Amino acid sequence: MVMVAKVILFGEHAVVYGYRAISMAINLNTSVKVEKADKFIIYSENLNKTLVSDNLECNDRDFSYIINTLKIFFNNFNIEPEYLKLSIYSEIPVSCGLGSSASVIIETLKSLSNFYNIELDKNDIFKLAYEVERITQGKASITDTATITYGGVLEIKDNKFRKLNDLNDFIKECDFLIAYVEKRNKKTADLVKEVSNLDYKDEIFKEIDKIAKEAIKVNDKKEFGELLLKNHELLKKLNISTNKIDKVIDIAKKYSYGAKITGAGGGGCVIILLNDNWKELIKRIKNHVISLYPCKVIL
Ligand code: PMV
Repeated sequence: MVMVAKVILFGEHAVVYGYRAISMAINLNTSVKVEKADKFIIYSENLNKTLVSDNLECNDRDFSYIINTLKIFFNNFNIEPEYLKLSIYSEIPVSCGLGSSASVIIETLKSLSNFYNIELDKNDIFKLAYEVERITQGKASITDTATITYGGVLEIKDNKFRKLNDLNDFIKECDFLIAYVEKRNKKTADLVKEVSNLDYKDEIFKEIDKIAKEAIKVNDKKEFGELLLKNHELLKKLNISTNKIDKVIDIAKKYSYGAKITGAGGGGCVIILLNDNWKELIKRIKNHVISLYPCKVIL
């Protein structure tokens, strides 16, 4: 069982243009059970959906990541495809920037490797998972697969990553809350495109990059929270926030160290760094959100 999803702490959108982003692996649960079957059966508790098929050439949007994971796994290890049932349980809400696809791909790879007694190290998992994302999406950044495979806090730049081990020591003392505020009304690719049309985007990206650079050296929760808020203000200027998200952030400003939208935007989730007022915070935001997930970094 993996217990990992990802959040972007700093630098979404700027990272698309070669500036740095800082991502963090968090403890939200995903598990995939593999067993023999007499068809290919994929069941997702989250989606409340089952796919039954004679082969892996079926086109199912919801399960395309899983189908491609199976194909790439069988192909990579020269295994003759055989009927299997995969049961997926995940507490990560889908399509809201928390890396649910990468988490399910990685857990499926781990469960398949256990089932077939194949040893995979982190580098193998990262390579295969990235390949699945790339084939399924056409184009993918390494952010989700790297963060969920290697854990901790990562700097992503030019589609390469490095672990921020110094920041790990600080972050592991932090308690976060993910507020899933509203369903996203647009896809990541559409939001990236909209931002690309802004003629002032480079100015904003440079500011965001400065904040991310500062955050790497921070050792104080208050300062870290202020940097989250500053990054959010800049993301607002890129028009990727929403009224509902801003409402939650306004409340979080009073009852936490700081907060920002995380991921591509257009709705989705807010990441909040908790302080001692967390009970009051939860009381005040619970009517403005779909769900709340207390979380910590996974190292
Ligand atoms: O798709 P999300 O919400 O995990 O966010 C992606 C972050 C972006 O910077 C907007 C896009 C990217 O590929 O890095």
